[in-house]
Amino acid sequence: MALSELPPPIDEESGEPGAELPLIRALPPGSMSKAWLARLAGVDAPWTEARRERRAAISGLDESPIVLVSAKGSNLADLDGNRYVDLIACFGAALLGHGSTRVARTIEMQSERLIFGLGDVYPSDSKIALTERLARLFPEPGARAMLGLSGADAMDAAMKTALLATGRPGIVAFEGGYHGLATGPLALNGLRPEYRTPFAAHISKHVRFAPYAKRAADLDASLSAVNDAVKSGEIGAIVVEPILGRGGVHVPPREFLSGLREIADRSGALLIADEIWTGLGRSGAILRSVEDGVVPDLVCLGKGLGGGLPMSACIGRGSVLEAWRNPKGVSPELAEGGLHGEAIHTATHFGNPLACACAIAVLDSVFGQKLAVRAQEEGDNLLKMLREACGPETKVKDIRGKGLMIGIEVEGGSPRALGLVRDLLMTGWLVLTGGAGDVITVTPPLTIPRKLLEGFVERFAQLASVREL
Ligand SMILES: Cc1ncc(COP(=O)(O)O)c(C=O)c1O
Repeated sequence: MALSELPPPIDEESGEPGAELPLIRALPPGSMSKAWLARLAGVDAPWTEARRERRAAISGLDESPIVLVSAKGSNLADLDGNRYVDLIACFGAALLGHGSTRVARTIEMQSERLIFGLGDVYPSDSKIALTERLARLFPEPGARAMLGLSGADAMDAAMKTALLATGRPGIVAFEGGYHGLATGPLALNGLRPEYRTPFAAHISKHVRFAPYAKRAADLDASLSAVNDAVKSGEIGAIVVEPILGRGGVHVPPREFLSGLREIADRSGALLIADEIWTGLGRSGAILRSVEDGVVPDLVCLGKGLGGGLPMSACIGRGSVLEAWRNPKGVSPELAEGGLHGEAIHTATHFGNPLACACAIAVLDSVFGQKLAVRAQEEGDNLLKMLREACGPETKVKDIRGKGLMIGIEVEGGSPRALGLVRDLLMTGWLVLTGGAGDVITVTPPLTIPRKLLEGFVERFAQLASVREL
């Protein structure tokens, strides 16, 4: 089928575009979605199908996905003309919602000016303007930034910077942590062994894992494990998510980050905050670590930064990034011939002008519309509504989060959580699972109207009270 034959984009019923309740016309996945999925099955790398089969074995349900075709605001539409409320928002990245006019106009204008860049050779004006903006996000003067295309790129830049700045290869990461699946940050992955084990031969052996302080009672054990790890003198960085995101949306006690800061200072390691999920307003703050009173040495941002275009950044103290000129532990000859002479950290599309222009538009919107404050307020309200609506009959164990980054831990483990995700899909609400598969994660656009969150709470409580263990 030609793209022009696809169903029209979201039809709006009641006025405000992108703020509609669900509308299911054909039980998902409908026949059009099924037909396109069959085409994908023949050409996509087979791990997606393998995952679906495994999920079906766990939940006992048909786990076939829908095929998306258009979106506006907080609504997504599939090929069969069904309208959904998007509480995933591209894994938390669609901060402004879908089809932001500001981003769309920026794409149009910048496309006419300059799309391709020449990264580190001849920078574009938009790359320079964005780098300045990003450096200013850091709470201390003199900060610098390195751009990338994905969250994993930003983590890679942070890992390399830490090695150059300290001369130490060791890193402390956390159980349950997720920092991207490229080979560098895969070494930091404490979420699921399946991610690492097939590639173990390529993964750095210098990473030590400590338990994440998911609650106050875990704090001492977690910090003392980090303390033990740094005793080797080999640790150059402690890498932490200020809220454990994919690991199940765990908000640590405030003393966790400050404790890590103290250990890093004492041991000469850098503190790297992975704010790829928490940052830019998602958790109710532009930088969650700074809001919690801690200034890391390096901060990584990604996900929503490019407004849907690939863009990420590693931002840090000028004195730390100075290591790219004067690295520690690298012989002067190598530093001269390697660091000074070659572009040792670049990629064809790093600093892409179109993505840089969009990132500036995103920052303008996030700040201009005070989306961090909105996320905090709406998140608090959502937590309250969920806690009120989810009585014992819903078999919900815990409801937690900060800003619009919420986790609902359910009884019955991943089979029941997957069942609920499917029930919600069938009624037009899109969510994912996280943690050990038993947490339903809710990360809507930061612009989502309250009435949609109210609708979700009502539907969730209804479905959860009838889904058996
Ligand atoms: C905290 C965190 N770090 C890093 C990443 C990796 O980002 P990307 O998928 O863009 O590589 C993610 C993705 O979910 C994340 O949640």
